[in-house]
Amino acid sequence: MRSGVDRLQAAHARIIVALDVARASQAEQLVKRLGARPGLVKVGSQLFTAEGPRIIRRLVKAGHRVFLDLKFHDIPHIVAEACANAAQIGVSLITVHASGGPRMLQAARAALQKFPARRRPRLLGVTVLTSLDGAELKRVGFPGSVQRNVVRLARLAQRSGCDGVIAAPTDVKALRRACGKDFLIVTPGIRAAGQRRASDQARVATAAEAIRAGADYVVVGRAVTGARSPARALQVMADSIAAALD
Ligand code: C5P
Repeated sequence: MRSGVDRLQAAHARIIVALDVARASQAEQLVKRLGARPGLVKVGSQLFTAEGPRIIRRLVKAGHRVFLDLKFHDIPHIVAEACANAAQIGVSLITVHASGGPRMLQAARAALQKFPARRRPRLLGVTVLTSLDGAELKRVGFPGSVQRNVVRLARLAQRSGCDGVIAAPTDVKALRRACGKDFLIVTPGIRAAGQRRASDQARVATAAEAIRAGADYVVVGRAVTGARSPARALQVMADSIAAALD
């Protein structure tokens, strides 16, 4: 049996905090205000286009595991080079669009295979952006329900060498069934328990619900970073995950 401290550590390890801020100084200040260290911190397009790889090097040097969420979607050669560069600067997770196709995904995988296992980032496929609904998806040219497309693209990502996918909480169960227990599922759209009804997002859940459904990691932004006390909000979320892990 795990002790309370171990359980809480295991719960923190499942949380990825999104550093959706404009400048490196704000990101570093935010990380300090978290108190405890989450499993990973996420650098997305907003921070990366402002600060470049320097902020990633600084976060890695400070001992953080970094999720670089730039959702690559380009010809295979370019995506492969970008993934290799990301591995070189020390990130632990990277995203590529599964709809970039099998050759692009395989090229990304092959580029990462050149790194020793310890330094090789895990490759995650983005299936359907959670901002798209069924009607919009149809206009893009993808018939069928959102979830059918999510599962189809996740299986393509898995066959093409991805380690996992990004998925809305509502798709986690279907993905676990389709892709098995070893496939990573990383879930954004997380709200604090009391915030749930106030949200205008349809495909959201609490962190504990997402973990109970089978997610490996939850990605949380504003529910923690926008709280008066980010440290307290992170702690409450970790407690709820620890209870879900029992
Ligand atoms: O909404 P929140 O502030 O928690 O978002 C944190 C991160 O999760 C964002 O950086 C965004 O990339 C991602 N996200 C997403 N789909 C959503 C909501 C957020 O991919 N529906």
